[in-house]
Amino acid sequence: MNSESVLSGTWSRLVALAARPGARAIRARFAADPARPRRFSAAHGDMLLDFSKTAIDGEALVGLLDLAHAADLDGFRRRLFAGAMVNTTEHRAAMHMALRSRATDRLHASTAAGQEDASAIAAHERALMQRFVAGVHDGSIHGATGEAFDTVVNVGIGGSDLGPLMATEALTMAHGGVLHARFLSNVDGTGAAAIMRELDPERTLILVASKTFTTDETMTNARALRAWIADSLGEAAVASHFAALSTNLKAVSTFGIADDRVFGFRDWVGGRFSLWSPVGLSIALAAGWEPFEALLEGGRDMDAHFRSADFADNLPVLLALVGIWHVNAMGYGNQAVLAYDDRLRRFPAFLQQLEMESNGKSIGLDGQPAASRTCPVIFGEPGTNAQHSFMQLIHQGTQVVPVDFILAAEPDHDRPDAHRILAANALAQAAALLRGKSRADVEAEMRASGVSEADIAEIAPHRVFNGDRPSTTILVHRLDAFTLGRLIALYEHKVAVQGWLWQVNSFDQWGVELGKVLARGILPDLAPGAAIGAHDPSTAALIARFRGLRGEA
Ligand code: F6P
Repeated sequence: MNSESVLSGTWSRLVALAARPGARAIRARFAADPARPRRFSAAHGDMLLDFSKTAIDGEALVGLLDLAHAADLDGFRRRLFAGAMVNTTEHRAAMHMALRSRATDRLHASTAAGQEDASAIAAHERALMQRFVAGVHDGSIHGATGEAFDTVVNVGIGGSDLGPLMATEALTMAHGGVLHARFLSNVDGTGAAAIMRELDPERTLILVASKTFTTDETMTNARALRAWIADSLGEAAVASHFAALSTNLKAVSTFGIADDRVFGFRDWVGGRFSLWSPVGLSIALAAGWEPFEALLEGGRDMDAHFRSADFADNLPVLLALVGIWHVNAMGYGNQAVLAYDDRLRRFPAFLQQLEMESNGKSIGLDGQPAASRTCPVIFGEPGTNAQHSFMQLIHQGTQVVPVDFILAAEPDHDRPDAHRILAANALAQAAALLRGKSRADVEAEMRASGVSEADIAEIAPHRVFNGDRPSTTILVHRLDAFTLGRLIALYEHKVAVQGWLWQVNSFDQWGVELGKVLARGILPDLAPGAAIGAHDPSTAALIARFRGLRGEA
């Protein structure tokens, strides 16, 4: 058998396993095998990944691991870390791991001009960042009027916003930060107006974070804040109040940001993987340099684990395979992420870009329609808040939605009572999804509380939980910067593994282009008195109505 037929055999085997009678049962598997928590979990350091509350049994796990081997995941992993151009449509490496490496790791990235020492490049840029951060913190780098900066505004969108925002919140929520941080992403002018209304320009440092330095939203917001600084403090103040985080040094200089205020990175860093790069400068300014370095160290640690651990013990590989089981064997199209940790309240939003921009594809690496279903819809909220919104659907809806629960054993506050309640809820939700509640139990409970037989008959069906709903739990000791780095890198590698198994390019994002182009075509037609150009009838009618509502028909 050639390798292709072995591979397709492993996919077919998974589908066959999923078609076995009782394949979706989870409770019954625990009854048959109480050792599931040990057999269907893996740990790296204090990070535990427990996937025992899924319908994966011994045969399914073997089938999933066989798939990973047959797909030559090992070869992909080696090429990824060797800096090969795994981003085939843009002819780029995906070497974000170099950003959290040490110079001595000597990770290299392929470029059109040959291989470059990505670790050395990243270390050089990190040293510049560190010096800048130290200068801002000790006040030697200050605003135009001599005032120390007390607030940093990160102007960026997508990967130039979501990662820094998520990590900054996670690292500063418990104890505050060195600087206040604000994030301006949406081109909706409300956000820029709020910043101009609420902040003191004399004490505000603005970072324009944009890999390309061409993104319409970011450039519009950057120009608005530039005008705000120039109007408030004079044109000359712009040099003191702006810095840029970008790969496009030419566009940065056209914008008017001096070279010594530009922190660069290379095109082997994808936007959604860029929080470890200078794009993470807001994290370091707000949380401090040490937490930022610890974050990188955590990412580096997960890289080493992903790179070397056997698939059966490899957290990113296992998390990816659990997802493959749910999407491709079970046919589930959604995935919820519930971090029982307010500090991670933006983690689902970060993951939405990471997962869906990476693997929301239907064309394979070979240019043909993807052979299997790819990325599920990712959503989430912090627990326990989610319990009071969409958990109804996850417990009793017609769709099965696998959940990732994320929990730290040790809080970073002095309210242990509250943390135990939080933890009890996380564990209870996963247990409830597994266990369910039978009609007989519901009826017995209602009878014991004296409910009439008529009411029991009417209401009992609504109170039944089918159970057997899958979840995984990621349990860590405490959510410090190092662990956050591990967690983010865990999901990054999970996404890369899934992309490889689905045979899609996880590192491009052509699907965001069409809307951008059409927006540029619609924009002139929204001007008062402009002729409405050629659009589909619905869009043309909406443009006309929009203008009518504004009295600009
Ligand atoms: O939404 C598309 C995208 O290109 C993302 O991949 C990226 O993170 C975001 O826009 C912002 O891009 P840039 O950093 O170039 O402004």
